[in-house]
Amino acid sequence: MLTKEDMIVVKQVRIAKDTYELILEGELTLQMNEPGQFIHLQIGNGREHVLRRPISMADVNGNQLTIVYRIMGAGTKWLAEREAGDAINVLAPLGNGFPTHAISNTNILLVGGGVGVPPLYYLGKKLKAQGNRLTTVLGFQTKDAVFYEQRFRELGDCIVTTNDGSYGQTGFVTDVISGLTEINRYYACGPTPMLKAVSQQISVPGYISLEERMGCGVGACFACVCSTIDGNDKKGYRKICQDGPVFPANEVVL
Ligand code: FES
Repeated sequence: MLTKEDMIVVKQVRIAKDTYELILEGELTLQMNEPGQFIHLQIGNGREHVLRRPISMADVNGNQLTIVYRIMGAGTKWLAEREAGDAINVLAPLGNGFPTHAISNTNILLVGGGVGVPPLYYLGKKLKAQGNRLTTVLGFQTKDAVFYEQRFRELGDCIVTTNDGSYGQTGFVTDVISGLTEINRYYACGPTPMLKAVSQQISVPGYISLEERMGCGVGACFACVCSTIDGNDKKGYRKICQDGPVFPANEVVL
């Protein structure tokens, strides 16, 4: 059930260039058990920044929720200035996340690009606990932007790429994926060109999160509409914020 709550900041840490990890505490967290769903944060008192900011869940532990975000403007700058004990109004849970039900003993590939990486961590934890074998490929622009590598290593194999070659393997996530075999299923989140390249490259069933293309997050701005195609080749349109952000890879036109 969609609920609003003043959640309390437990901790805030800078984990990469312009990138912060924020841990919030509150009862609302008990409703958040679907990786890939997102929360809606109120910035300040909601008067200066009227629109809330949609940010995906990176992890859930008991009544604590972790999010990771990059500073993009005044709203996220305000967020980065919050300290332990501050309250932030949160509306959640929103959207439809990654399906994980009854998936076990499977070779799974997780592919994340930039700020698309965080929701894959909570997803990876869940899939690992269900007895799956994980390989993660994370793509970043440069070394300064890399985060969560160690956390994904604790879940299985993890390969990092940087576009400029300053860390890990040089190039794009697709350069690494081409060498991976025995993958039965994949999940991806990141910029649209990355998702397009990944879904064209991998033939096994997959799910992609289009969270990067969200605006208001509540169905009001239509900035997030995407073209879809169903199993009968019927074309349609869906709102990423309400119908997604996660879709079967073969049902969206990127
Ligand atoms: Fe505004 Fe979906 S993000 S309608």
